[in-house]
Amino acid sequence: MSKVPPIILNNGIEMPQLGFGVWQVPDDEAERAVATALESGYRSIDTAALYENEVGTGKGIAASGIDRDQLFVTTKLMSTDQGYDRALRAFDASLERLGLDYVDLYLIHWPVPSEDRYIDTYKAFEKIHADGRAKSIGVSNFLPEHLERLIDATSVIPAVNQIELHPHLQQRASRAYHAEQGIATEGWSPLGQGKGLLEVPAIVAIAQKHGRSPAQIVLRWHIQLGNVAIPKSVTPARIKENINVFDFELDPEDMAAISALNEDRRLGPDPAEM
Ligand SMILES: NC(=O)c1ccc[n+]([C@@H]2O[C@H](COP(=O)([O-])OP(=O)(O)OC[C@H]3O[C@@H](n4cnc5c(N)ncnc54)[C@H](OP(=O)(O)O)[C@@H]3O)[C@@H](O)[C@H]2O)c1
Repeated sequence: MSKVPPIILNNGIEMPQLGFGVWQVPDDEAERAVATALESGYRSIDTAALYENEVGTGKGIAASGIDRDQLFVTTKLMSTDQGYDRALRAFDASLERLGLDYVDLYLIHWPVPSEDRYIDTYKAFEKIHADGRAKSIGVSNFLPEHLERLIDATSVIPAVNQIELHPHLQQRASRAYHAEQGIATEGWSPLGQGKGLLEVPAIVAIAQKHGRSPAQIVLRWHIQLGNVAIPKSVTPARIKENINVFDFELDPEDMAAISALNEDRRLGPDPAEM
């Protein structure tokens, strides 16, 4: 049923290259949105304790009737729950809200270098991983300098770093560092939050050339870069549109034209400043 090819993480586990994000989806709408995504062929769902929709997300997963081993569920630790003991407790609470007995991927949501707790936090993640309750562990919004420190001080190299990534913020230095270390790059806000990016003339022109939507062109660019992307939508037609990106290819000149749009422009916070 799934149309989405996997990437292989550094621990040998497969992760769908395209997933469904649920940030800003209210808990009481998450069940329906997740159900629509699963019916449309998505098998990977990205939530977080911070999104306050793990309950609705878990209901959508349960209602789908899809075997658990066919799904890839990610959640994230809230920054206020960093620290070894707090992280262990917060993980239990996330699992309970999701109604699951394991997650496929558990991420530290932000490094928060000013508080300097991400190493202790990650040691709790290593325990959760060793106990089999998170099949893979990783981080989000870590800069190469944070990853370098983490890798020096701990034993499990993060499987994934989930970072803001779209044509206006292409994160070349982070991607190169991840490739060197065997860390998968997962892009958040892959559509640039659906605002101006989808109206950029170069993207609209490529969309017209391929008879696709601008969102499909941007998602295909992520896929051809080899990254994981997790677009969000609560609109059923868009949920379906966003997964239909595996039956066409961008030409090298299309890829180059999109790569020329980088402006190093963030939509979200700068992880160095938190
Ligand atoms: N780790 C982190 O710190 C972090 C931070 C932010 C996000 N994330 C994750 O990344 C996921 C995606 O990021 P995001 O939600 O910020 O932004 P996004 O996926 O780039 O864009 C979502 C926006 O684009 C619209 N949209 C979706 N598909 C579209 C289409 N085909 N055509 C036109 N507009 C479309 C959506 O509208 P409708 O919903 O109204 O259809 C929504 O407003 C989040 O849901 C979350 O899981 C992680």
